Amino acid sequence: MSSSLISLGIESSCDDTSVAVVTQRADRDVDILSLITFRQNDLHHEYGGVVPEIAARAHATRLDLCTKRALKKASLELRQVDLIAVTSGPGLIGGLMAGVAFAKGLAAGSGKPFLGINHLAGHALTARMTHGVDFPYLALLASGGHCQFLLVQSPTTFTRLGATIDDAPGEAFDKSARLLGLPQPGGPAIEAMAQSGDPHRFELPRPLSGRMGCYMSFSGLKTALLRTRQQLVKKHELPDPDRNDLAASFQQAIVDIFVEKSGIALEEYHQRLGERASTFVVCGGVAANRAIRENLQELSAKYGVEFVAPPAKYCTDNAAMIAWAGLELFGPGRCDPFDLKARPRWPLDETASPIHVSGKKGQKS
Ligand code: KG4
Ligand code: ZN
Repeated sequence: MSSSLISLGIESSCDDTSVAVVTQRADRDVDILSLITFRQNDLHHEYGGVVPEIAARAHATRLDLCTKRALKKASLELRQVDLIAVTSGPGLIGGLMAGVAFAKGLAAGSGKPFLGINHLAGHALTARMTHGVDFPYLALLASGGHCQFLLVQSPTTFTRLGATIDDAPGEAFDKSARLLGLPQPGGPAIEAMAQSGDPHRFELPRPLSGRMGCYMSFSGLKTALLRTRQQLVKKHELPDPDRNDLAASFQQAIVDIFVEKSGIALEEYHQRLGERASTFVVCGGVAANRAIRENLQELSAKYGVEFVAPPAKYCTDNAAMIAWAGLELFGPGRCDPFDLKARPRWPLDETASPIHVSGKKGQKS
């Protein structure tokens, strides 16, 4: 263990309080020594969405216990950790501030360096932690607040090839689940219903199909689903078979959008770098979806590209990816000062023009 670096990661940008300990030996072997996550679904359930103030308060009260458990599970004490990595953006400001303040406290008390990590970089770099993927690669980052195709060339070099111009796909899953009377988070609930449904029964739109390169749009899908639902129900009831077919048709629309746009993104990658992508990574919470993974795997095989989807628990928000990003970024002199501020909006590709639409987690780019 002597030639290894140990990173403590902290994630609190939305509604999951998560702490992890990850280590990397000099020979590149990565070990996720612990990952403790406190979910907040029960706290927000009655409001139908994440309430930022409730989320922030819950993070502030749970970070301490979460950290103690993560260290205990890793059989380590804080003094044995080499660095503290914390999500400092983008996300909900209250949760980010709770995490950053907590990390600063830990760092000040222990004399350890600390690093602010971009949550999206955490998602986009996860495949290097789980599969040792080499740069450069194409990533589709699809989550509850974001959706973008990224050319990933280093832990700090991300080029946005395309993105959603409105809702994120996870947001579309969550809103559509609500319309179908399913619990949150909506993605896994819709996926479960879709398993026994007919994906071709209802014709939902594939917005931006055939135009705007690998830019995507998801907001019209939930409206179409609502209209279809209204035609089906006379009162409030939606019979299970209809609900399953609607869920399956909705999921199929997302799959089709991703397949078409991923093909275009792979072509764009080729044009930009002058060589074909060797690896296509899908990441973010929506990447936990099996239908999406299977279809993107098939597409990748057609293009002769290696397809990588991290295990589902490292796709949805987790602190292991933050600890890992810390290891990627850490180096002599590469830590952050104590006046580091949380950044609710923090695009990965700062050169890309902003997409002026706000969603669950602020602006989409
Ligand atoms: O990455 P994540 O945990 O949080 C954000 O950074 O937003 O993504 C959460 C999103 C939620 O919208 C959730 O419904 C969606 O990921 N999600 C899924 C699945 N599991 C989580 N969407 C589709 N299928 C799933 N199995
Ligand atoms: Zn996320």
